[in-house]
Amino acid sequence: MSERHLTFTLNGERREASAETRTHLADFLRHGLGLTGTHVGCEHGVCGACTVIVDGAPVRSCLMLAVQIDGCTVETVEGLATGGQLSPLQQAFADHHGLQCGFCTPGMLMTLEAFLRVTPSPTQQDVRIAISGNTCRCTGYQGIVEAALTAAAAKGSRP
Ligand code: FES
Ligand code: FES
Repeated sequence: MSERHLTFTLNGERREASAETRTHLADFLRHGLGLTGTHVGCEHGVCGACTVIVDGAPVRSCLMLAVQIDGCTVETVEGLATGGQLSPLQQAFADHHGLQCGFCTPGMLMTLEAFLRVTPSPTQQDVRIAISGNTCRCTGYQGIVEAALTAAAAKGSRP
């Protein structure tokens, strides 16, 4: 087994940890660091449940090796809420019934979090394209789309 020492920023905190070179980022987050909010569905890059944000871009953590985050900034679903308050996007998911079983939700949230940072005023079609790589078996997507549009509108209305 070959281990590497990693230094990275995780949800705003400087962290150091060791990871085997063969471990993918999703397993490292879940089993190495105990951050089980990142879900693993297909492990083939298809379902999007494992999406996290690395250096500002949404990535599928099942397709990335943990050692690749050395020196990077990583954001997971655990970092969205602050001080016990849901983020505007999380609250919008709750308000619009954007989740049922919740398995896809962490990936949906992180995909949309990254998307809304660069697309502050999306159309419904923009949102549908943004989440086209995330699979949800429960919601029919309509609530998720409405949540994203609501969160974008709320952000736009803030000073
Ligand atoms: S678990 Fe990574 S895309 Fe499905
Ligand atoms: S809420 Fe169940 S898979 Fe999306």
